[in-house]
Amino acid sequence: MSIITLHGINKIYGQGDIAVHALKDIDLELQQGVFYSIIGKSGSGKSTLLHILGALDQPTSGQMILEGRNVYEATADEQALLRRRRIGFVFQSYNLLPEHSVLENILLPSHLDGIEPDGSHLQEIVEVLEIGDKLRAFPDELSGGQAQRVAIARALITKPAILLADEPTGNLDEVAGREVLRLLKEFQTRLGQTTVLVTHDLDIARLADVIIEIQDGSIKSIS
Ligand SMILES: Nc1ncnc2c1ncn2[C@@H]1O[C@H](COP(=O)(O)OP(=O)(O)OP(=O)(O)O)[C@@H](O)[C@H]1O
Ligand SMILES: [Mg+2]
Repeated sequence: MSIITLHGINKIYGQGDIAVHALKDIDLELQQGVFYSIIGKSGSGKSTLLHILGALDQPTSGQMILEGRNVYEATADEQALLRRRRIGFVFQSYNLLPEHSVLENILLPSHLDGIEPDGSHLQEIVEVLEIGDKLRAFPDELSGGQAQRVAIARALITKPAILLADEPTGNLDEVAGREVLRLLKEFQTRLGQTTVLVTHDLDIARLADVIIEIQDGSIKSIS
């Protein structure tokens, strides 16, 4: 089943002489429960594409259908709600709130919507990520690998339909990076969310079911 479809997506940053055509007529269909990687050189448009898939940014033209809804026909408030409830993000720089404990960071997305988090879901996530003994700690007391695992917990707490990760191992050493990738795969199997991982490393990209290669803002291959 298709979860996200992009039709004719273009993204142009800036205007006139300085305009950058970052995405060119992208058509893409992502299926439910599949692990995708997006690979391509620096500047090829990977992050731009991921931001559009996550409704963090709007394209210059084109349409996106998320779970049967035309996203750009929704109001800004509806789009924000879709983003918070249906999409999880993991970034290279963990983006944890330093003034809040690990547990508060994880629960933040639910609290924003006034939703009582599902206790058994929280427990499962915390157990798999092995962060149960860190729930009262603060972000600056964590290693990079631990901080990224907390960011993954925060992304998954709302049971998103799609998990988007932009170079999530970029700041980690090889061992911690491999562990984060293993966990992303494990959650994709356990929870069944569609996962999209951006990387410029082909060895990492090969962990995915499907590799989407982008070059100069266009899809070069899907394999
Ligand atoms: N906010 C912005 N304003 C202007 N140009 C931008 C902006 N963001 C990205 N670009 C340009 O769009 C193109 C695609 O950028 P993007 O960040 O999507 O590349 P990327 O594939 O993620 O690269 P990297 O591997 O270095 O992260 C680049 O030419 C970049 O300079
Ligand atoms: Mg990028």
